[in-house]
Amino acid sequence: MNKEKEEISAIHPAVAPLCYLLGKWKGEGEGGYSTINSFRYGEQLHFSHPAPGKPVIAYSHNTWKLDSGLPMHSESGYWRPKHDGSVEVVIAQSTGLAEVLMGTHSAEDIVIKRQSQVVANASKVREISRVYEMVNGELHYVVQMATNLTALQPHLKAVLKKL
Ligand code: HEM
Repeated sequence: MNKEKEEISAIHPAVAPLCYLLGKWKGEGEGGYSTINSFRYGEQLHFSHPAPGKPVIAYSHNTWKLDSGLPMHSESGYWRPKHDGSVEVVIAQSTGLAEVLMGTHSAEDIVIKRQSQVVANASKVREISRVYEMVNGELHYVVQMATNLTALQPHLKAVLKKL
């Protein structure tokens, strides 16, 4: 088997529909909420498939201030796609918040939609929704959250290009 074929067969079949994500993505995002001033940030996402025999994508997300480069929010976790088109995601945030989301992925639309099932160790956040979408080769995402005072509304949106 040549090297290219080995690499393709090394991708777990449950991960294959999402293999376009694998690699590093870099871009800029815009944040806001009804209770805070809006802001912009730089960011890098990394999706990898470190254990090819397992149906798991490892995910990490780092952000920084655009003017100084100083670090802002970061998070990491695992995306677990299933053959039925569902995806289960677990994320630990640098703020201490932990979330478990369930969602769906569609290979045709290249959209991944997820809704939190569990938000733990959060003082304000009650619910999180995340949508990732490929648009003309760029990765777009929108993160919404609900807090103890506010219904679900956008906190982040960003556009990233593959490195
Ligand atoms: C504010 C949650 C991701 C930057 C907040 C607040 C919450 C929150 C609860 C306070 C809102 C309020 O006071 O009413 C989250 C959650 C995230 C997330 C759940 C991920 C799912 C991010 C990311 C960044 C960021 C990726 C930056 C790159 C900020 C900033 C503020 C803020 C700058 C305003 C802080 C202030 O004015 O004191 N976030 N955040 N957040 N967040 Fe996030």
